[in-house]
Amino acid sequence: MSFMDSQRRVVSGMRPNGLLHLGHYHGVLKNWIRLQHEYQCFFAIVDWHALTTDYGAGGDISRNVMDMAVDWLAAGVSPSSATLFVQSQVPEHAELHLLLSMICPLSWLERLPTYKELQHDLQHKDLGTYGFLGYPLLQAADILAYRAGVVPVGADQLPHIEFARDVARRFNHIYGREVDFEAKAEAAIRKLGKKVSKLYVNLRRSYQEQGDLDALNTARSLVKEQQTITLGDQERLYGYLEGGGKLVLPEPQALLSAAPKITGLDGGKMSKSHSNSIYLRDTPAEIEEKIRRMPTDPARVRRHDPGEPTRCPVWLMHQVHSAEDVCQWAEQGCRSAGIGCLECKAPLIEAIKAELAPLRERALDYEQTPDLVRSILAEGAEHARDEARDTLVEVRQAMGLNYR
Ligand code: TRP
Ligand code: SF4
Repeated sequence: MSFMDSQRRVVSGMRPNGLLHLGHYHGVLKNWIRLQHEYQCFFAIVDWHALTTDYGAGGDISRNVMDMAVDWLAAGVSPSSATLFVQSQVPEHAELHLLLSMICPLSWLERLPTYKELQHDLQHKDLGTYGFLGYPLLQAADILAYRAGVVPVGADQLPHIEFARDVARRFNHIYGREVDFEAKAEAAIRKLGKKVSKLYVNLRRSYQEQGDLDALNTARSLVKEQQTITLGDQERLYGYLEGGGKLVLPEPQALLSAAPKITGLDGGKMSKSHSNSIYLRDTPAEIEEKIRRMPTDPARVRRHDPGEPTRCPVWLMHQVHSAEDVCQWAEQGCRSAGIGCLECKAPLIEAIKAELAPLRERALDYEQTPDLVRSILAEGAEHARDEARDTLVEVRQAMGLNYR
């Protein structure tokens, strides 16, 4: 697989921790749904990750996995565009995790911010395990198994993607060098013909001596355009640009989504653990009940007290779910005490009901057909395995584990 192909590939994953809510929908799924038409996407339900912070969760995992698959499908993640699968059904992730563990310095894992943060946040859980320390490496394996160039994640995950890049770079550095790599790369350059090889050499020098990234990109495009050289030579020329050896594992890049922050019913971040969520499968009655019970600006004790929308979680939700004119109506009505809080909530209730109605309907359909969902996941796993297997062949070979 070439460097350019890897740039077309997306991997992301989600822990199966229960039903998905509006925050997942706006923050993650809508982004995936957009990406699935532009990239080759692999979306994993990462059940092993769920065990890394809660090894006793086994009883809930299979139900949570099914719930997650149903919610993804209901939201519009489409098995005809993207590959949806369960991590543990692709054992290549585990093999790659093991192989990468050989070269992963302990200090890299210990210094990841999530290592200390989660230990602090989840004090009721036993996180003194090997699996918990290693979960970012498992995540790196999730990504590198597909040689994906693009990983859509939230800002909290940036250190993990950076870490995955470091691991890939270290792997390439240690194992990417073939015997006689330099000589083979030089031979490949000569095959480019006089003009092109001169251009290649100059661009490579600009990148290596001045760190000129434009030169690097131009050189990559140049290599990509060459029709007459072998794929092996093409890979050598990509690898040689960066000074290393053959690129076995391309370095992935994080793709931050510009998603709005979804506030919960209490004004904090929407999260299952704060029980302040509206779930994708909530009934219209549940949506109505939850929003009616939402706290508002505490200054509005009586109906004729004017309020300050910026202090009110209802207002924050209007910003995401309501049209501009409704937002203005709420803002003015609140400050002038022209409307009451229940009146203000009414269009929000309607907007969220309307938004979630088609999702809920599709979710109910999928719930009725668990065999269909299972077969979508089985097919996804099969496709994912085919791709991951190819990577593992190269990884084993690079590490000297080929016995054929
Ligand atoms: N660790 C990620 C999280 O907690 C989930 C995850 C696992 C992931 N594997 C991944 C995300 C691979 C992106 C790519 O949210
Ligand atoms: Fe909040 Fe609307 Fe009530 Fe103002 S009128 S406090 S924005 S619910």
